[in-house]
Amino acid sequence: MMLPTELLHSDHATDLLPGGQIGGPRATMQLGLGGKTALVTGGSKGIGLETARLLAAEGADVLIAARRAAGLAEAAAEIEAGTACKVHTVALDVASVEDVAALPSAVAATIGHVDLLVNNAGTGTYKPFLEVSEAELQYGMAVNFFAQFRICQRIIPMMIARGGGRIVNVSGETAIRVMQPPFLSSCTGPAKAAENRLTSILAHEFATHGIRVNAVVPGFVHTPERFAKWQSELSQRPLSNEDAHQERERWSATHGMRTTRWGTPREIANLIVFALSDAASFVNGAVLIADNGLHQA
Ligand SMILES: NC(=O)c1ccc[n+]([C@@H]2O[C@H](COP(=O)([O-])OP(=O)(O)OC[C@H]3O[C@@H](n4cnc5c(N)ncnc54)[C@H](OP(=O)(O)O)[C@@H]3O)[C@@H](O)[C@H]2O)c1
Repeated sequence: MMLPTELLHSDHATDLLPGGQIGGPRATMQLGLGGKTALVTGGSKGIGLETARLLAAEGADVLIAARRAAGLAEAAAEIEAGTACKVHTVALDVASVEDVAALPSAVAATIGHVDLLVNNAGTGTYKPFLEVSEAELQYGMAVNFFAQFRICQRIIPMMIARGGGRIVNVSGETAIRVMQPPFLSSCTGPAKAAENRLTSILAHEFATHGIRVNAVVPGFVHTPERFAKWQSELSQRPLSNEDAHQERERWSATHGMRTTRWGTPREIANLIVFALSDAASFVNGAVLIADNGLHQA
């Protein structure tokens, strides 16, 4: 008689079901995202856009949220052209209590409910601790941690009512390591660290409702809008493409990275979508890092 592991490596690969029984024949990783509904905040650019694109390609019904309606419309049209899926949009500021309170109505009017939530919208402010203003401190918490907290409070009841759901909170490297200048992160790091802690608490609190909650930590990722912000705030001078490339490599090298390549939005979106999928069914409360080894440097 073949042992389960031999079966897995045979031409008739099978699944091991809970308890070790053998399931039906399957050759590929099954993501199980077709027909799910997904809300992606910050879904009009960068990591959020790539995540929305992948989810749509997997057959999910996607709602993307961001502040600027024009960016949302452009992103939706781009995804629809590539996937032949309808993509819904909602213009909102995740840092606004009122906008987040209105989110369930926007969900009801578009995708109906939320099976998959990606709390991706957020940003960073990098400057010496003694120069962080009260407004920057307040906004750093509001757009990062408070937004994820409040959106989870609005969406988790929908998931409980339907018997489960999956959440990914996108945090950042400043949550898990002290960064070198110019990324002095006393303003952003604590907010991102709070997102990771919230993630593990929610994973524990809602596990019995079939809700999985994981955090994804991107390292240096080249998203054009964010780099433009860093260029004006940190480099404080216009950079040619070649200079910008060298600046990014220099920032990685400053952090002790042996390979200085920056990630692509797709490389982060791949991990987010995996964490949302059936393939990650035993991954809960985890802080999943995609940073090319930055946190070990
Ligand atoms: N790129 C990196 O190297 C990196 C590293 C670590 C962590 N992260 C984290 O990854 C996430 C995505 O970053 P990204 O680089 O992909 O950003 P990005 O390219 O700058 O895109 C940000 C997206 O979020 C939206 N957004 C920004 N502020 C918002 C607000 N207050 N309310 C609603 N939507 C808002 C933007 O659209 P609107 O401007 O129209 O609102 C846009 O769709 C963020 O949480 C970021 O902190 C990124």
